[in-house]
Amino acid sequence: MTAQEDVAIVDVPKRKRAGLEWILEESFEGWYLMHSKRTLRDIELVRVAVSSGKAVGLVMLKTLEEKVGYVYYIAVAKASRKKGIGKLLLEDALRHFRASKVKEVFASVEEDNEPSEALFASEGFRRTSFNEVSKKHGSLHTLNMYREMLVVPGEVLLRRAIT
Ligand SMILES: CC(C)(COP(=O)(O)OP(=O)(O)OC[C@H]1O[C@@H](n2cnc3c(N)ncnc32)[C@H](O)[C@@H]1OP(=O)(O)O)[C@@H](O)C(=O)NCCC(=O)NCCS
Repeated sequence: MTAQEDVAIVDVPKRKRAGLEWILEESFEGWYLMHSKRTLRDIELVRVAVSSGKAVGLVMLKTLEEKVGYVYYIAVAKASRKKGIGKLLLEDALRHFRASKVKEVFASVEEDNEPSEALFASEGFRRTSFNEVSKKHGSLHTLNMYREMLVVPGEVLLRRAIT
C-alpha cells in the first residue's frame, strides 16, 4: 500500500509540539521515551505528517554542523504504520537537508529495530562505524559527533551521502 495522497508534511513550532507526545508514547519506552519527549520540545526542526487534519507521524531533525544532518527521531502513529508515512517523512527530511547544502546524513537505530532499519535502508542509508566515520572526519571530530548524536551501545549508526 502506498501513502495516502492527502498527507501533508509541515513544520511544527515549539509551542505546538506538546500535542504530538502521544505519537512518541506509542513508539518508544523508558529512556528513549523520556529523551524523545525532551528532544521534541527543544530541537530546531520538527516536521509532522498530517492526514485528514490529524497528525500521523513526525520526524526531528538537526544540522550537526554545516554539512552534516542528523535524523534524531522518526515515529509514526501505530494505526498509520506500514502505509508509507515514515518514508514520506524521511524523503521530506532528505529534501530539507539537500536544500540546506548538507552533504551527508546520519541516523542511529537500535540494532534489532527491524522496521526502523528497513525504513532507512529503503532510502539508501547503510550501516557505518566509528572507524569508517573517523577516516573522513578524524577521530576527535567523530567522537564529538557521536556525543552529539547520542549513539549508545546497542545502536548502529546509519549514513547516507547526499549528492
Ligand atoms: C520505523 C517507523 C517510523 C516506520 O514507519 P512506517 O510509516 O511504518 O514505514 P513505511 O510504511 O514508510 O515503510 C518504509 C519501509 O520500511 C519497511 N518497513 C516498515 N515497517 C516494517 C516492519 N515492521 N518490518 C519490516 N519492514 C518494515 C517498509 O516495507 C518500507 O520498505 P520498502 O519501501 O522497501 O517497501 C515506525 O515503525 C515507527 O514509528 N516505529 C516506532 C518508532 C521507531 O522505532 N523509530 C525509529 C527509531 S528513531
